Amino acid sequence: MPSSLPKVFVTRLIPAAGLDKVRQQCDADVWTDPLPPSAEVLRQKIADCDGLLSLLTEKLDASLMAAAPRLKVISNYAVGFNNIDIPAATARGICVGNTPGVLTDATADMAFALLISAARRIVESNRYTVEGKWKTWEPLGHIGQDLAGRTLGIVGMGRIGFTMARRCFGGWGMKVLYHDQRNHEQAERELGAQKVDFETLLAESDFVSVHCDLNESTRGLFNAATFRKMKPTAVFVNTARGPVVVEADLAEALLQGVIFSAGLDVTDPEPPRRDNPLITLPNCVVAPHIASATVSSRNGMAEIAADNLLAGLRGEPLRCWVNPEVAGKRR
Ligand code: DGY
Repeated sequence: MPSSLPKVFVTRLIPAAGLDKVRQQCDADVWTDPLPPSAEVLRQKIADCDGLLSLLTEKLDASLMAAAPRLKVISNYAVGFNNIDIPAATARGICVGNTPGVLTDATADMAFALLISAARRIVESNRYTVEGKWKTWEPLGHIGQDLAGRTLGIVGMGRIGFTMARRCFGGWGMKVLYHDQRNHEQAERELGAQKVDFETLLAESDFVSVHCDLNESTRGLFNAATFRKMKPTAVFVNTARGPVVVEADLAEALLQGVIFSAGLDVTDPEPPRRDNPLITLPNCVVAPHIASATVSSRNGMAEIAADNLLAGLRGEPLRCWVNPEVAGKRR
């Protein structure tokens, strides 16, 4: 007998904190494979669905939405939503939700972990130990960059950028510069942060940490020209999105000593191709997009994603609503 519950597709196993709610209140088809469904499978799966709980690995464009005439809500299990064509969703009356807030601390922690790893050559040194190369204490070996009192440049002073800046200001007494379209009054008041133009940030920062959205104005923002404007001792950190960086240019800058090192939690594409030089360069640390991978962040994301999905199905406001302007024309 057909179920009277709304039909939803969940594109991966997520923590029970959210998945149990979805399973209780929906006729849920959950993709249990660790790898994402192909575009074609996704298209078939959502053809008769009322709701979709997606990850950043799913590209949700207008043509895919056109293949899901009943779809009322897309709940993205991420704060970022660059995988979704938001204008197309809004035009079709589809609500889109995301999961901000609960991963702010974890992502700022990861940005700091990458900063200190790349500045102090921790991963490279660990490899040295593992490979049996540690023969004695080396007065001239493994020299990295100091952190205390240096200058941090934040590109994109939102929740995560601010939290990263607060850690660096409070713990390491760093001077904070930032580049953003908007003023961040709290950062200016509490951290003495200075809003500067992009060129000044590049020229004056010892650490450049990227926290901006991926959009057409930030795609490729970090390229050969940008890296040339940075200090040769600079450390570059990206926990935002891979395509903000032209990776071939970053690899060249690291190889030629244009900048000192880099710490990346995101690449373009993900996963990186096996021959991507960034993976093997000693002065580059690459993590597999794990910034939100803590118990509380992932549980919090699951709860918000479930609440967004269920609210969208009931025709209620989403807890974290990316396109509230869709309200008047919801399906
Ligand atoms: C996000 O939420 O956008 C992160 O990149 C993954 O947690």
